[in-house]
Amino acid sequence: MNKKIALMPGDGVGPEIVKQGIKILDAVSAKYNCVFEYKELLMGGIAIEKTGHPLPQETINACKESDAVLLGAVGGWKWDNLPGHLRPEAGLLGIRKALGVFANLRPAILFPQLKSASFLREGVLEDGIDVMIIRELIGGIYFGEKKRVDIEGGQKAWDVMAYSTHEIERITRRAYETARKRSKKLTMVDKANVLESSRLWREVVMGISGEYPDVETNYMYVDNAAMQLIRNPKQFDVIVTENMFGDILSDEASMLTGSLGMLPSASMGEGKIGLYEPIHGSAPDIAGQDKANPIATIMSIAMMLRYSLDMEAAASDIERAVSKVLDKGYRTADIMQEGMDLVGTERMGDLIAENIC
Ligand code: NAD
Ligand code: IPM
Ligand code: MN
Repeated sequence: MNKKIALMPGDGVGPEIVKQGIKILDAVSAKYNCVFEYKELLMGGIAIEKTGHPLPQETINACKESDAVLLGAVGGWKWDNLPGHLRPEAGLLGIRKALGVFANLRPAILFPQLKSASFLREGVLEDGIDVMIIRELIGGIYFGEKKRVDIEGGQKAWDVMAYSTHEIERITRRAYETARKRSKKLTMVDKANVLESSRLWREVVMGISGEYPDVETNYMYVDNAAMQLIRNPKQFDVIVTENMFGDILSDEASMLTGSLGMLPSASMGEGKIGLYEPIHGSAPDIAGQDKANPIATIMSIAMMLRYSLDMEAAASDIERAVSKVLDKGYRTADIMQEGMDLVGTERMGDLIAENIC
């Protein structure tokens, strides 16, 4: 079996973590006798340096021809003053849009070994954490009209948050289908007390909720949800929300698991092809220092094997390997605990790959 995997290492720690991801895929390929054909593509700051554009057409074409796409992270100080449409982040938004991956699944799962690595009081995490945040990824304020004009005394700028019924329906159905396979509880997070787009979201979700009588639906304002995630995260099973709220809440939820470096993601559209990436960024403050935690990327590969490549057993192997390495006491700096063995990015990648058996 040959599978084509497009790789976009990107910037900062991106290449370091994608390199660990390839070690994992190579270990899976050896165990299951399958061939992964990698194709490395330019996207983000590196693409700006080499081609003048953050998302070359060749990258889009090659991603569309692959079975799955693995992304590191993009962005960095060097490109922070470029106009919005030429920034590395524009490349990331562009490839998500080009692949039509509207549903971004961000699971926040606490490995029991990391309970004391979390910043939360242990009681809050007693029975573990398993929250699935489903973030709408190719609509809303990220993609609405953006403009800046001169006005008397200065300037005025705006970003429009717009959603159509169709855009809300497809993500809502994906969220209900996901909840159905889990604990059957869906929380819709919005700001319907203020935003018209949120009121449309609520109406659409309420309309669809009748098709899923087996799933309990709750509605919560985003400010309250941000607080409840810390106060009592166990109340959540699946959260569905618009693009920007999902971005913010998922970074927050990562802290329930010990570190931003632990949260993977899968972005899916109507088809099988998916985009897999850790939720964190290019971490310029630790880039090139062998410090980045590669687990978010490695767990994203588990999601890739499960959702795009039909390799459920290999996905479980990866999750088990991560757990075994944590059992043995190995930690990167961001999840370091007293008495454990501090390892770098490379060693963590090697250890997890060795434990895939
Ligand atoms: P960030 O996620 O890069 O880093 C936030 C903090 O978390 C930093 O202190 C960083 O060192 C730490 N961190 C992140 N990943 C880590 C890991 N794997 N292991 C250990 N520590 C980790 O966010 P930022 O600093 O706000 O943004 C930096 C750049 O990344 C910006 O250019 C931003 O636009 C970009 N960004 C890209 C993506 C992406 O490519 N998907 C996501 C978020 C931010
Ligand atoms: C993420 C990132 C991106 C987002 C940025 C870099 C465009 O924060 O993947 O969470 O906001 O989607
Ligand atoms: Mn983010």
